[in-house]
Amino acid sequence: MSSTFFIPAVNIMGIDCLDEAMAAIAGYGLRKALIVTDTGLAKAGVATRIAELLAMRDIDSSIFDGAKPNPSIANVEQGLAQLQRERCDCVISLGGGSPHDCAKGIALCATNGGHISDYEGVDRSAKPQLPLIAINTTAGTASEMTRFCIITDEARHVKMAIVDRNVTPLLSVNDPALMAAMPKGLTAATGMDALTHAIEAYVSTAATPITDACAIKAIELISDNLRQAVAEGSDLQARENMAYAQFLAGMAFNNASLGYVHAMAHQLGGFYDLPHGVCNAVLLPHVQRFNAKVSAARLRDVAKAMGVDVSGMSAEQGSDAAIAAIENLSRAIEIPAGLAVLGAREADVPVLASNALKDACGLTNPRPASQEEIEAIFKAAF
Ligand SMILES: [Fe+2]
Repeated sequence: MSSTFFIPAVNIMGIDCLDEAMAAIAGYGLRKALIVTDTGLAKAGVATRIAELLAMRDIDSSIFDGAKPNPSIANVEQGLAQLQRERCDCVISLGGGSPHDCAKGIALCATNGGHISDYEGVDRSAKPQLPLIAINTTAGTASEMTRFCIITDEARHVKMAIVDRNVTPLLSVNDPALMAAMPKGLTAATGMDALTHAIEAYVSTAATPITDACAIKAIELISDNLRQAVAEGSDLQARENMAYAQFLAGMAFNNASLGYVHAMAHQLGGFYDLPHGVCNAVLLPHVQRFNAKVSAARLRDVAKAMGVDVSGMSAEQGSDAAIAAIENLSRAIEIPAGLAVLGAREADVPVLASNALKDACGLTNPRPASQEEIEAIFKAAF
């Protein structure tokens, strides 16, 4: 079976790497950037700082701070209008998954035309997007380096999964110094998103030896560093290890894809506007309990990567240990206990389940599920 490995051409990482990144950006010969960010980073002055660093390299910019959490079609359209008005020739996303995904939507529509919903699905665009440089400020989604773009269709209450090689950024930047300001809750949620990427990629039907290596190293780093990154946000070593971990998890899922945790979490995000990482963290043990029937040996590897001594354990005992280790980590970093606390309603489960079964992320889940089985997993997570 053949496989294709996608990753940005250039990826700059490490504490205080922003200067090196600016030199690389200057090398592309770009004239004017649309900086896509959120209001938090705009108010904190981070977007202005990036604009100033670009100006020092003779690159003009215009700041669009309208990327909401769970970015919508309207956010993409507003950003695209500003890009066209300001005659920008590239896009720089600054933030976590939401600005990156919004920027991908803008950059894709800028060259391909049409409406962002035209590109829902896999490889629906015809042309490369406008050059996109992604400067990451969270350690979780890995959207700064993936070909995944998730945009909420507010009219349908669904998150559209746009999986397209053309939304891969040109350059990704992960400077842990930009991550130190993340509050505890965001650090915990984004870290669990990364753990979910690694585990879903590891048990995926599309896993390869390359994605396996990335996933296992990511799980080890998250298991060893996430508690500390949450407890001591200023610990730059823990932040750097989490930056590498989420990038490795991104390398894994960008190529092995995901599973039902993401397919189901997208529906919770689209329906109730809930944080992506928290939805994943709550669903992860329940989906893996369902998957264990076919993935027990792989889940035993996950337990080992999370520090469990699995010698002498059967595959089933190992998968139980992996699920327990995931739950322990979630508890330690104060992830909410279940969907009820998050405000989800059991009455919505049938429609959430039927939408989850239409999400492209579920196609590589190791154990196919029926409508009834997805409903049962949702209910177990309440
Ligand atoms: Fe995710």
